[in-house]
Amino acid sequence: MIALSRPAVLRALVALLLAAAGGARAYAQSPEQTALLRQIKAADREQLSVSEEDGRFLRLMVVSSGAKRVLEIGGAHGYSAIWMGLGLRETGGRLTSIEADVERARIAAENIRKAGMADVIAVVPGDAFAAIPKIDGEFDLVFLDAWKRDYKRFLDLVLPRLHPRGLLLAHNVVNKQAEMRDFLAAIEQNPNLITAIVKPSDEGISVTVKLR
Ligand SMILES: C[S@@+](CC[C@H](N)C(=O)[O-])C[C@H]1O[C@@H](n2cnc3c(N)ncnc32)[C@H](O)[C@@H]1O
Repeated sequence: MIALSRPAVLRALVALLLAAAGGARAYAQSPEQTALLRQIKAADREQLSVSEEDGRFLRLMVVSSGAKRVLEIGGAHGYSAIWMGLGLRETGGRLTSIEADVERARIAAENIRKAGMADVIAVVPGDAFAAIPKIDGEFDLVFLDAWKRDYKRFLDLVLPRLHPRGLLLAHNVVNKQAEMRDFLAAIEQNPNLITAIVKPSDEGISVTVKLR
C-alpha cells in the first residue's frame, strides 16, 4: 500500500479535478489552433479575414444554434471557417466553405488541415453561384462573406435552402452597408425573416432567422 502525505493527496485531487475539467473542455481551442489563427491573420495582407471578435461570435452562433449543416460563401484563407469549425466540433456538424480564388482556396484547405479540421470543413474552390446548386439538402446556418454587391443575389439563392429557424449571417453590414442596400432592404422587409444587426467589431454582422 502506498502512503501519501497530505500535500500529495491534495495535489492528486487537484490533478483529478483538472483532468475532469479538461475532459469537459475536450473541444476547446488548442494552443496550436490559437497560434495558427494568429498566423493566418498576420499573413493576411489584403485584410480579408473577419476580426477575431467576429470569429468568436461565429463560433458562438454555431454552438448556440446547434447548427450541423453550415455553408460559408467566401472562405478566403480559412480564418472564419476555422472559427466555425471549432463550434462544429461541439455540434457534430460540417461546414462547406466556397472560395472563388483557387490559390486562396488552396491555402484555406492547407490551414484547415493544419488546424486538424479536415474532417469537419470541406473547401470547395470555385464560384459559389455555380457551386451552391450542386450541394444537396438544406442548411442550418449560412455565413455570407463574398463581394458585397452580390449579397442580394446570394440571399435569393440560399433562402429557399435554409431550414426553418435556420440562420443567415452576413458580414460587413455596417462598414460596407452602402454596397449592399438591396440586401439590407430585403432582409428587413421580408415578413418571413427576423433580423438583428450586431457589432462584435466595427464591420457588423446581420443575424437573420427564417421563420418557416
Ligand atoms: C472578405 S473575403 C472572406 C474572408 C473569410 N470569410 C474569412 O473571414 O476568413 C471574401 C472572399 O470571397 C470570395 N468570393 C467573392 N465572390 C465569390 C463567389 N461568387 N464565390 C465564391 N467566393 C467568392 C473572394 O475571392 C474572397 O476571398
